[in-house]
Amino acid sequence: MRRLRKLKLIKETRLSTGDLVLPLFIDETIAEEIPIESMPGQYRYSIEGVAKAVLEARSLGIKSVLLFGIPGSKDETGSEALNKAGVIQRAVRAIKSAVEDVVIITDLCLCEYTTHGHCGLVEDGIVLNDPTLEVLGRVAVSQAEAGADIVAPSGMMDGMVKAIRTSLDNEGFSDTPIMSYAAKYNSALYGPFREAADSGFLFGDRSSYQMDYPNAREAIREVELDIAEGADIVMVKPAMFYLDVIAKVRARFDVPLAAYSVSGEYSMQKAASEKGYLNGEEVMLEGLTAIKRAGADLIITYFAKDAAEILNR
Ligand code: PBG
Ligand code: ZN
Repeated sequence: MRRLRKLKLIKETRLSTGDLVLPLFIDETIAEEIPIESMPGQYRYSIEGVAKAVLEARSLGIKSVLLFGIPGSKDETGSEALNKAGVIQRAVRAIKSAVEDVVIITDLCLCEYTTHGHCGLVEDGIVLNDPTLEVLGRVAVSQAEAGADIVAPSGMMDGMVKAIRTSLDNEGFSDTPIMSYAAKYNSALYGPFREAADSGFLFGDRSSYQMDYPNAREAIREVELDIAEGADIVMVKPAMFYLDVIAKVRARFDVPLAAYSVSGEYSMQKAASEKGYLNGEEVMLEGLTAIKRAGADLIITYFAKDAAEILNR
C-alpha cells in the first residue's frame, strides 16, 4: 500500500469550492456589520452591506449563499416573514441587483420572526403543525417573489414540503426548487446560531419537532417523506456528528444531498484553534472532506470562505 501512498496521487474524494454554501445573517436593524461573538469571523450584515459580502464570496468561487433574516420586529405569528419589504425580501433584491450568477437560498422558518422563537405557530404552549403549513407556503411565495433561487424550509413540520410545493406551484413559481432540512436533529450544536440569528425560544425546546439524536432509521423515513412530497434537495443537519446518517441517506436515495455543518461545529474548531490546541486549517479541511466522503453533494459551512482561500491556492 505504501508504494502508491507516498506519491499522494490518488484522492478518492476531492473537496471543491463549488460544493460549499456560505450562510449569512442579515439584521434589519443595523447599518454597519457587527461581529458575532460566539462565531469568530462571522458577522451580522446590514441589508446594504450583505451584497458586498456575497460579492466577496462569489469572487472566491463560492456559488451559493444561504440567507437568514433578523427582522426589526417580531410577533406571535411571525408576520414579518411575509412582509414584501421584510428583511429577507429586501436582502434578496439587493443581492440580485448587485451580484451576477449567485444562487440564493433562503431559510424558510418562523423562529427568527416569532416572539416565542419557535419554528411554528404556538397555541397553549404547543407548536401547531398543520396551521403552520399554510403560513410556510405563503412565506415561500414571498421569498420566491423577491427572487430567491431555492427555498429551504428548516422548521421540521410534517408535510411542510408538500404544502410549500403546492403553494409555489399555485402562485406561478413551479420552477423554484425546495431544499428541505429533511433530517434535522435537536442538537446542542445550534447554540452559537441562536445568538447569531436571535432565534432562541422563550419556553420549552425543539424536541417536539426536531429529531432525537439516537435515531438514524427515522432519518431515512424523514428523507423518504420529503422526497415523496417534492423536495429537490434533502439535507442532513448537523454534519460532523451525523456522518453515518449522511452515508445512509446517500446509499439509499439518488437525490442531491446537502449537509449543514452547523454553528457549534464551527465555533468548537475556531476556539480550539485560537487556543493553539489544534491546527485550525488542517482540521477544517479534514472535517469538510469527511462530510464530502460521507456522501454530501453540498456542504453548508461557515468555513466556506476560509476553505475557498486554501482550495484556490
Ligand atoms: C432554525 C434554524 C437553526 C439553524 C438553522 N435554522 C437553529 C435551531 O433549530 O434552533 C441552526 C444553524 C446553525 O447552528 O448553524 N430553524
Ligand atoms: Zn426555525
